[in-house]
Amino acid sequence: MKKKWLLRFSALALSLLTVTACGADESTSEPTKEQEGEQTPQASSDGEVVEIFSWWTGAGEEDGLLALIDLFEEQYPDITVENAAVAGGAGTNAKAVLTSRIQGNDPPGTFQVHGGAELNDSWVAAGQMEPINDLYEQEGWMDKFPQDLIELVSKDGDIYSVPVNIHRSNVLWYNTAIFEEHGLEVPTTFDEFFAVAEELQSKGVTPLALGDREPWTASHLLENVLLGVLGADNYSALWTGERSFDDPSVVEAVEIFGEMLNYVNEDHSSRNWQDAAQLVANGEAAMNVMGDWAKGYFVNDLNLTVKEDFGWVPTPGTEGSFMVITDTFGLPKGVSNPETVKQFLAVLGSVDGQDAFNPLKGSIPARVDADLSKYDVYGQETIEDFNNGELAPSLAHGSAASEGVVTQFNQAINIFVTQRDVNQFVDSVKMAIER
Ligand code: BGC
Repeated sequence: MKKKWLLRFSALALSLLTVTACGADESTSEPTKEQEGEQTPQASSDGEVVEIFSWWTGAGEEDGLLALIDLFEEQYPDITVENAAVAGGAGTNAKAVLTSRIQGNDPPGTFQVHGGAELNDSWVAAGQMEPINDLYEQEGWMDKFPQDLIELVSKDGDIYSVPVNIHRSNVLWYNTAIFEEHGLEVPTTFDEFFAVAEELQSKGVTPLALGDREPWTASHLLENVLLGVLGADNYSALWTGERSFDDPSVVEAVEIFGEMLNYVNEDHSSRNWQDAAQLVANGEAAMNVMGDWAKGYFVNDLNLTVKEDFGWVPTPGTEGSFMVITDTFGLPKGVSNPETVKQFLAVLGSVDGQDAFNPLKGSIPARVDADLSKYDVYGQETIEDFNNGELAPSLAHGSAASEGVVTQFNQAINIFVTQRDVNQFVDSVKMAIER
């Protein structure tokens, strides 16, 4: 059951290099700690430099990466890490920069890429990645990562990247004080969600925080409504073409999503994901649907306490399901120092690397033998849920469908949020999937 969607996705090769910039917004670029001078990269005496390309900059995103870089530099003092991060949630800007670098034969040493279609149908299918089976053998990793994950980073029997984490998409975060003050139970079904939202709105509290200045956050919310309405198997079947996107259950989910938009903050289109999560942190909104990088943000940047200041439940209707996102790093073809890149990947895939990165990032380790004592109650419960849950691939974060479909989905949802035309939305996504 659990593996079904993974097998379907490894058989899929939807499109080649169709990565396009989506809503690129340079104004979102904040200086990274490195750009601010904390870790200015300089060539070491023997000139070895490894360039790490990601979109982990700023609040809630950067701490885990910097901890991983510190660990690597401790182990390899003669190699300098160049942190080439490009700001913008979910890779909004980074993916466009990466595409142009690879098309210009200037690949970074290694780059952040979601396991699943984003890796396999774009970069691997286009012949841009080196297989790294030898690294997995050398490091003894074949039984250290769940088989499901190894399949997600493999194509035609070869392995192409190393997962640094597992993020969960289907999490509803809530402000505990607001629920206590109003004597409300946290919703686990759509009916409960709308009853609670109505009550909160009547008391002048914003029920649901949304920040869709970058449209992927609206896609993120909708993918979880789809999962809640369809269940893991039927949801997964949408992206393989086994279930048509104009199925009545999809129409129902989009209608529910549209109804939810009646309960979001008015300024949603000018906020990013951190700004929306902050509304919940500050007690200005009751709930927010976001991946568990929000937990890293709440705890490490806003100093909130898990289960006291904020709590979480699976998004409505998704109890027992786990919408999977995995950030991975591989070896692009054409880099000048493949052995150095592999040294970095070896640290990233080690127990110490994963345990330095994930407690700060909000994610759980991709390895099965990480040190559980390093994870808080959220992390420990999430590891349990991952092991027992029905897994489903995230669309908004690249596992379910090619980058071309994701880009068109984001464009269609951006239009839907203002126009609320269910049929138009469904038709345009259906066409994108069929193409
Ligand atoms: C990535 C996360 C990241 C989030 C927000 C997701 O696509 O997988 O690592 O924190 O985007 O930028």
